Amino acid sequence: MYKIVTKTELAPNIYLIELASADIANKSNPGQFLILRLDDKGERVPLTIAGVDLNKGTVSTAFHAVGRTTKKLAKLNAGDSIMDVSGPLGNPAEVGNFGKVLLVGGGVWCAPLYYVAQALKKNNNKLVVVAAGRTQNDMVYENELKSVADEFHVATDDGSKGNEGLDFLADVLKAQKFDHAVVMGPVSALKKVVEMTKPYGLNTMVTLASLMVDGTGMCGACRVTVGGETKFACMDGPEFNGLDVDFDELVLRQRVYLPEERMASMIHDKLGGGVKRG
Ligand SMILES: Cc1cc2nc3c(=O)[nH]c(=O)nc-3n(C[C@H](O)[C@H](O)[C@H](O)COP(=O)(O)OP(=O)(O)OC[C@H]3O[C@@H](n4cnc5c(N)ncnc54)[C@H](O)[C@@H]3O)c2cc1C
Ligand code: FES
Repeated sequence: MYKIVTKTELAPNIYLIELASADIANKSNPGQFLILRLDDKGERVPLTIAGVDLNKGTVSTAFHAVGRTTKKLAKLNAGDSIMDVSGPLGNPAEVGNFGKVLLVGGGVWCAPLYYVAQALKKNNNKLVVVAAGRTQNDMVYENELKSVADEFHVATDDGSKGNEGLDFLADVLKAQKFDHAVVMGPVSALKKVVEMTKPYGLNTMVTLASLMVDGTGMCGACRVTVGGETKFACMDGPEFNGLDVDFDELVLRQRVYLPEERMASMIHDKLGGGVKRG
């Protein structure tokens, strides 16, 4: 069992949990992920590592409560336990000394992006950071990202804070030369940023949240096409160069279980589903 040491509501339906596991914390790097199973009947949910505290022996992850399992997870509190946590899984993000790096985070993904940004800053990169959210109320980790940024921008889909949408990035890209870019967010945001960086041939690393089951290369559920080749997001990624990613195929594959996911979420909401506490 893995104990939840702290739980923080970052925004409506977006939470940060800190899990006790010195073992996972010691091995974790920015860009890697965990797979959580809440109880013995639970589905496996992949969540990106948002930070570690080596003194406390904890690993943190931020999640958006969007479906049955993440809504169940949102009902747990500090002191409760989760049955299984596997990790760290996947490859670490590239955090070398590139020069000037553009970082774009969308919604809940701003939390794990901060973990990547801290490592890039440590390696003496200049960081131009964009924190984005659907509305001003959905923004998370804005202050943290601002603290490591040499230049900082905010964007919301509805324009309630900062720039309206990500179109302003076209001007940012025109005005300065970047050596590397990192984008973490929903697929629509990854695709949009890559469309803007492609004309500059800017290597734009994107974290692909394809549907995953085992997370260890056994099931093939997380197949993505990158550079015309089939890759497993869990083993070969989850970070890939977005210039080579077939985003249209990724979107189609992510929607495969949509009717079942909607039904499970509806039943969960109606029954007020919980999880066994340990
Ligand atoms: C490597 C990886 C890292 C991830 N990191 C994070 C993270 O740090 N924070 C976070 O909030 N979410 C993250 N996700 C997405 C998260 O795993 C899903 O939101 C979660 O599995 C949904 O489970 P559910 O049962 O609550 O909802 P479901 O009912 O299974 O799905 C609800 C909605 O979420 C979408 N969804 C389901 N599974 C995924 C998935 N694997 N990726 C993207 N969308 C999905 C569905 O299309 C549906 O619209 C990550 C996914 C992967 C593969
Ligand atoms: S999740 Fe099974 S192969 Fe990647």
